[in-house]
Amino acid sequence: ASVVDEDCIWLGPGLQLLLDHVLAVSQEGKIVWLAPARDSQSVLQSAQQLQNCHFIRLESTLEFLCPGMIDLHIHAPQFSYTGTATDLPLTGPDGWLETYTFPAERRLKNNLPLARRVYQCVVQTTLENGTTTAVYFGTLHLKPNQILVDVCLEYGQRALVGKVCMDRNAPHDYVQTLEENIEETRELIHYIEHHPQNSNPLVLPLITPRFIPTCSPELLTALGDIAAEHPNCHITSHISESIDEVAWSKHLDEQDHGIMDRTDAAMFHSHKLLTDRCIMAHGVHLSDADADILMEQGTAVAHCPLSNFFFAGGVFPCRRMMQRGNKVGLGTDVAGGYSPSMLQAARTTVVASQSLQAMHTQMEQQPTTNDTTESILDYRHAFYLATLGGAEALGLQHQIGNLQVGMSFDAFILSAKGKSNITVFPDFDSLADVFQKLLVLGDDRNISHVFVKGREVKRQFQVTSCSP
Ligand code: GUN
Ligand code: FE
Repeated sequence: ASVVDEDCIWLGPGLQLLLDHVLAVSQEGKIVWLAPARDSQSVLQSAQQLQNCHFIRLESTLEFLCPGMIDLHIHAPQFSYTGTATDLPLTGPDGWLETYTFPAERRLKNNLPLARRVYQCVVQTTLENGTTTAVYFGTLHLKPNQILVDVCLEYGQRALVGKVCMDRNAPHDYVQTLEENIEETRELIHYIEHHPQNSNPLVLPLITPRFIPTCSPELLTALGDIAAEHPNCHITSHISESIDEVAWSKHLDEQDHGIMDRTDAAMFHSHKLLTDRCIMAHGVHLSDADADILMEQGTAVAHCPLSNFFFAGGVFPCRRMMQRGNKVGLGTDVAGGYSPSMLQAARTTVVASQSLQAMHTQMEQQPTTNDTTESILDYRHAFYLATLGGAEALGLQHQIGNLQVGMSFDAFILSAKGKSNITVFPDFDSLADVFQKLLVLGDDRNISHVFVKGREVKRQFQVTSCSP
């Protein structure tokens, strides 16, 4: 049920549809004005600060201007094989990483034109799907990562880009020494921070240990030291993702330190890698004690529901984590999750929540207070997680994730106007119904415009396919 005001419809706590408003964007790409259209006319004509601004007013009740979506976890090089490789478990000698991932990532090192092509495709595709900010895992090697930074700047996508670190348990031809990992991590941070096209930064650096099993304790310590030297630098990795990964991490820790039963969270924390600038992917098997550590450190979880159906052997208790106060946003986890679309990630969040509830029922467990039917996540929570939740996870909620005066104009227009899977019945569909149809059924055909920092980024390229 929605509450209707004169100028807005409240869809739920914190989620408002503003009716017939005007929004002004400054030359610098900031939102400088947002008010009902009927109030605006006189002010617009006189206001000094609104000179040289662009104005947006949607003409149709089939269009919604939304804050841009934030993909908290995506592997840019894996875009080359997304849609395949859906048939193996994550780890092991014949697993997904060894069979598909490492060869696809390694290939880019000696084929920089291919790296550019793959990265142009992933940036363009995610932009067209409304992803205005992406947290990208790159590859091990410096050069392809620099190309990824260049492509994000060229295409105008806000991004965090990390050089993936591995110094053990990786193929002999796709691994680096501790020193190479550290050196190239530092070089990529420097490249991003001093890039001539990145003065008011659109691309931010990222410290990126792949996951515990492929990083020696010495490498994790050294990465923790780099993080301490660069307090503004974000950190990301995978945490307690799957049953096989959790067992492998523990086994290695017993070998390395003789410690039994330590969790990924405790290990990352011991290397000072959990900070309020850190986003850890998955977290399906986090204990309550782990969740407490993350909360105390201000570390966020990137919930990747589609990927979890393939690898995790469990469902991330997203609603429970939100209720206990942990920071959570969403990731596509391309190519572990096959879809680059954040709308898809949002609706899979709802399906995952429903299936967790169904499992409780099927196991004839008494549902706990946190897992009752009415606490299932719905499309509104998923929309929050895909936008403002992601911004809060990154600590960028004063800049992106919402449409308010003072914030960057990172946004997209969701439209039911053209040919798509959505049919609107004007005789009975309310505005709230149209919005819900778009979130539940929409795809890139329903995303007519995308803006990052005020620049329109969806329709600028001639290329519509990712040809050489
Ligand atoms: N764990 C370590 N590397 C990866 C990866 O590339 N994808 C996923 N989903 N999990 C990982
Ligand atoms: Fe991943």
